[in-house]
Amino acid sequence: MVLTEKILLFADPGIDDSLAIIYALLNPDIELVGIVTSYGNVSKEQATANAYYLLQLAEQTQIPIIPGAATPVEQEEASNIYYPEIHGAEGMGPIRPPSNLQYQVHSFETIRTIINLYPNEIVIVDTGRSTSLATAFILFNEEIKKVKAFYIMGGAFFVPGNVTALAEANFYGDPTSTNYVLTHAHNLTITPLNVTQYALLTSEMVQRLAQEGNTPFGPLLSPIFEFYYNAYQKNIPNIQGAPIHDLLTVMIVSNPAIVEYVYYDPKVINGSSEAKGMSFIDIRPTSPKGNTRIAVKLDYEQFVEEFFRVMLRLD
Ligand code: BDR
Ligand code: CA
Repeated sequence: MVLTEKILLFADPGIDDSLAIIYALLNPDIELVGIVTSYGNVSKEQATANAYYLLQLAEQTQIPIIPGAATPVEQEEASNIYYPEIHGAEGMGPIRPPSNLQYQVHSFETIRTIINLYPNEIVIVDTGRSTSLATAFILFNEEIKKVKAFYIMGGAFFVPGNVTALAEANFYGDPTSTNYVLTHAHNLTITPLNVTQYALLTSEMVQRLAQEGNTPFGPLLSPIFEFYYNAYQKNIPNIQGAPIHDLLTVMIVSNPAIVEYVYYDPKVINGSSEAKGMSFIDIRPTSPKGNTRIAVKLDYEQFVEEFFRVMLRLD
C-alpha cells in the first residue's frame, strides 16, 4: 500500500509549477494541504491567482492558499526578477485566470497551524525561490522541526545553469535564503537541473493526454505546453521536449527510486559576482559526505510511466 503524503507546496506558478500542482491534485498518493505562493516566475499576486484558478478548476478551493514573499532578501535588479519569456507574462503561457476571479487567502501563520495539525507528517516541497521557506524557518523555528521532510527544486551541480552560465533560477533568485534553508532543513532532498533538465514533457506525451485524458485541466495542457516548449527551444535548440522541473520534484516524494542520489552538503554563492546563485559541493576525495540527498540521475522511462499513471488517472 502506498502511503498518502501530505504536501505543503511552496511555488511560483509558473508553467512547471502549475503542472506540479495539477499532478499533485490528480494524484491519489498525495494530499495537498496548502500552497504558499511567492514571487519568482511572476509576481506574488499573479502566482496566487494562478494557484487559486487551478484549485477552482479542480473544485478543491478548500485547500488554503497562503501568499508569501514578494521580493528576495537582497534585490539588486528590481525590474528584472520575473521570467515572462519562459512562463508568459501571467505565468501560464497563453492561459489567464478569469479577470473577475474572487478568492480569499490565508495568513502566513497558517503554515504553523498546518504543521501543528499533522506533526511529523507534513512534507514541504519548494519549487520556487527560497525566500518564503526561509521566512517560515525563522518565524516558526519550533514547528518547522516537526516537518517530516523537505524537497527543493534548485541548483545545478557541474552542469550549465539556466538563468546564467553558472546558476539555476530558484537558487539565483535569493541565494541568501537558499543558503539559510540548505543549512537548517532536515531530511532534505534537492532536485537540481542535473535531473530536472531531463524530465522532458514531449509533444507526443501531450497528444496522448489530449486523446485519453479526462480531467478538468484538459483544455489547458496543450496551449501551456506549446508556449513552454517554444520558449525552451529558443534557449536549447534541438531539445526534445520541455523540462518539467517542478513536477519531477513533487513526483519523487512518493517515487524516490525514479532518481539516483549523492549525499553532500550543498552551498550557493551569494553576492553580486558572476557566480551569484551557483550551487556547489565539495567532492574532493577527503571531503566528508553530507546529509543532503541530491538527485543526479533520472530514470526517464519510469518518469514517463508515473506521469501517465497520475495524469490519465490509470489506477
Ligand atoms: C525553476 O525555475 C523556474 O523558472 C521553474 O518554475 C523551476 O522552478 C527551474 O530552474
Ligand atoms: Ca518554479
